[in-house]
Amino acid sequence: MPRGSELRTLGAVGSGLAAVACALLPSCGTRSSSPDLPAVVIGASGADLFAHEFTPDHGLGPLYNATSCGGCHRNPTVGGSGVDEKQVVFRVATIDSHGNFDDLTGRGGPIARNHTVAELGYGCALRPGVPALANAVSTRDTPPLFGLGLVETIADDVILAGIADRGDGIAGHVNWVDEGAGRRVGRFGWKAQTVTLLAFASNALRNELGINTPDFPNDLLSGAGAEACAGFHRGPEIDGRSVALIRDYIASLPPVAPDATADFKQGRDVFERVGCTGCHSPTLAAPSGPVPLYSDLLLHDMGPSLRDGFVAGDAKERDWRTTPLWGLRYRKRYTHDARTTDIGEAILAHAGEAEAVLKRYSALAPDDGAALLAFLRAL
Ligand code: HEC
Ligand code: HEC
Repeated sequence: MPRGSELRTLGAVGSGLAAVACALLPSCGTRSSSPDLPAVVIGASGADLFAHEFTPDHGLGPLYNATSCGGCHRNPTVGGSGVDEKQVVFRVATIDSHGNFDDLTGRGGPIARNHTVAELGYGCALRPGVPALANAVSTRDTPPLFGLGLVETIADDVILAGIADRGDGIAGHVNWVDEGAGRRVGRFGWKAQTVTLLAFASNALRNELGINTPDFPNDLLSGAGAEACAGFHRGPEIDGRSVALIRDYIASLPPVAPDATADFKQGRDVFERVGCTGCHSPTLAAPSGPVPLYSDLLLHDMGPSLRDGFVAGDAKERDWRTTPLWGLRYRKRYTHDARTTDIGEAILAHAGEAEAVLKRYSALAPDDGAALLAFLRAL
């Protein structure tokens, strides 16, 4: 259980303390002056905030997918991946016959939310789930967050240097993203659509929990139906300092080290020989030393079977960021849409730029194939 008792809210304390807190919290001055100001969570650590079960009194909703970050990022422990279909998120859109793409922002998109505050006993007539308007859905599994603080320190140039003809038709490209500090190389999210952990945390608060932040100050909803619901507010429902604490907590999560008891030398050689390392680069350089993530952090065209039809900036319909394989042994389901619990099936779904590598993989002698899987299961 989160140590919720340590959480204090401006709504629950006297105005004197509220004024003190306001002096400490940069967002206070920018919030709306509505009399039903939502509570701002103060006095908690990043770990508490990550695990905290929010309620509509803290700004949760009106629509939401979970009441805490830890509700999805939980396997095998706080900060990890999802476990089952309950931690899967649906991106939604309407794509017309000319290919025009509408992500349904404010009309139930761009992320479907499966719950409403009505389930918690608050009045709200909004309909949860995939909006009826949507004719396209992209399923996204919850990835683990271990080691992402190191990933954040990898310089753009290091990722860009990976864009070279590596033979076998493998090239890769980056998602150029401007989060307000100029164009940078995206590295977080299945389509590398986000540059910093702070932006991701802020976005997740608003998109998954319905908690507006200083950077994303409005619920993804519009219309009178929304305004009548608990959890609907214009303006931030959490202060920037708390978002930064959540970011710092994620950045502090150490990466999963390979299973030291496993003998995976043969499997690691096979991994390299068939060319998996063409994309799953064993390390990328960072100021603190090589980061052993098994990814080039580039986008690759993965062919028709993994195509979701969704575009995110420079990431096109069949493009995915090479999934880091560190910690693979703890994951329950594989690929962006969690389509399989079998590592072998996830590999066989690779096509597009991975076609030549997959040909060699499929031709492996049985003991080499087994050694490769043993290596992956030890990561
Ligand atoms: C409903 C489940 C769910 C909840 C709740 C949730 N996440 Fe996530 N998280 C996801 C999914 C799904 C993705 C992948 C999204 C994508 O790229 O399309 C993700 C991705 C991330 C990433 C990027 C990981 C990577 O490898 O690039 C970060 C960071 C993150 N979440 C932080 C948070 C924080 C902070 C919270 C709480 C405010 C949170 N998440 C709440 C499902 C969830
Ligand atoms: C052309 C680049 C490329 C090559 C070559 C490649 N991969 Fe991948 N790999 C990816 C991308 C991109 C994904 C994410 C696909 C998705 O989820 O839709 C991925 C996903 C995976 C996953 C699933 C991870 C998870 O947690 O969901 C595994 C396992 C994997 N690759 C292993 C391998 C192995 C083993 C090889 C060599 C036989 C290999 N890959 C070759 C790019 C590549």
